[in-house]
Amino acid sequence: MMSEQKSLKAIRGNFLDIVKTVEQPEEIESHLRFIEDGLMLVRSGKVEWFGLWEEGKHLIPEGIRVRDYSGKMIVPGFIDTHIHYPQSEMVGAYGEQLLEWLNKHTFPAERRYNDIEYAREMSAFFIKQLLRNGTTTALVFGTVHPESVDALFEAAHNINMRMIAGKVMMDRNAPDYLLDTAETSYTQSKALIERWHRNGRLLYAITPRFAPTSTPEQLAMAQRLREEYPDTYLHTHLCENKDEIAWVKSLYPDRKNYLDVYHHYGLTGKNSVFAHCVHLEEQEWDCLRDSGSSIAFCPTSNLYLGSGLFNLKKAWHKQIKVGMGTDIGAGTTFNMLQTLNEAYKVMQLQGWRMSAYEAFYLATLGGAKALGLDDIIGNFNVGKEADFVVLEPTATPLQQLRYDNSVTLMDKLFVMMTLGDDRSIYRTYVDGQLVYERT
Ligand code: GUN
Ligand code: ZN
Repeated sequence: MMSEQKSLKAIRGNFLDIVKTVEQPEEIESHLRFIEDGLMLVRSGKVEWFGLWEEGKHLIPEGIRVRDYSGKMIVPGFIDTHIHYPQSEMVGAYGEQLLEWLNKHTFPAERRYNDIEYAREMSAFFIKQLLRNGTTTALVFGTVHPESVDALFEAAHNINMRMIAGKVMMDRNAPDYLLDTAETSYTQSKALIERWHRNGRLLYAITPRFAPTSTPEQLAMAQRLREEYPDTYLHTHLCENKDEIAWVKSLYPDRKNYLDVYHHYGLTGKNSVFAHCVHLEEQEWDCLRDSGSSIAFCPTSNLYLGSGLFNLKKAWHKQIKVGMGTDIGAGTTFNMLQTLNEAYKVMQLQGWRMSAYEAFYLATLGGAKALGLDDIIGNFNVGKEADFVVLEPTATPLQQLRYDNSVTLMDKLFVMMTLGDDRSIYRTYVDGQLVYERT
């Protein structure tokens, strides 16, 4: 058995986090905490002490090896608020927009996940990809097959990773081999909730794919699940593509707009996360705000599928919670730095300058808030879960050159998000344990 002392870890280095959630991006800077030469003590997966090395070093018991990351930058683990694990094998499929892309590339790729062995193999691959990119929490789509979710949760459970996932509910407008029914989607989701929700650090998301692939009967079943398990999540897509929106309007002519379909079935609210939200009507923005729902901003996906430009500025203005999503496999990278790099450009095209602090917030504490988890992850406050990443700001010659030419912390962070990628991830820790080492 591990002794009390052995379970303690002492981490030294430069730390950067944001101490408190904010309502507006201008507030972030005043809550930024940069500790040059800091110390974090971690016990049983939680932050036990955090502060200046000089003030804390006497707390380190004799015999404990200090992990010294001087010269690196330690930040909270990144949070990916929208990703499809069964689409890892089809990233970069050529040449279509959303609806054709789903039919031609996505549905065939998801077919194989009824095979638990295949699902396990791909779950292992997927989690390795998250960790090598510094992502320590994700909100994940499985496939329609319950096996896909069992395999993913088993793999996350093995390393005690905080992960939210769910089985896709879809009972129409897809190939037969990917369809469930309103009834089976209910019973299968319910069994998964009973098995996995709040099992260790795992959480369940009720996951209707999107309105076009669910009958009204199925959305009513999603509502029933939500009423029976009010602390689960709701995870789906919303207003990504113009043809998709027109299709929803034709399938649900009685509803005021796309979001009203979900709202009608009680699927908006706290812990409801809607991916994309590129083409929202004013009433939809207001419904998201009034219901306390969250948005997953997926820049690489929105650019790749030609979906459009998400209006982050408006989301701030409406005070709607936003997190970053990679949306693998319409998104083109697992890497959060690269995702922020593209988010910056999406906002440039709309005349809004996204600061490095804003980007860093969205990828950490802001993402935690979007998932309703900001009381347990997202920064280094004492008592928080110890998921963190050691970044190497100078992983390539170009990064070194730019870093040396950067004066302020803002500059350094901005260069990291613009030029950084998986090479920037030096170490990843989950639950206080080292789970990835760059070689
Ligand atoms: N809308 C419905 N399903 C999907 C999906 O798999 N990916 C994306 N990007 N949008 C969707
Ligand atoms: Zn998606």
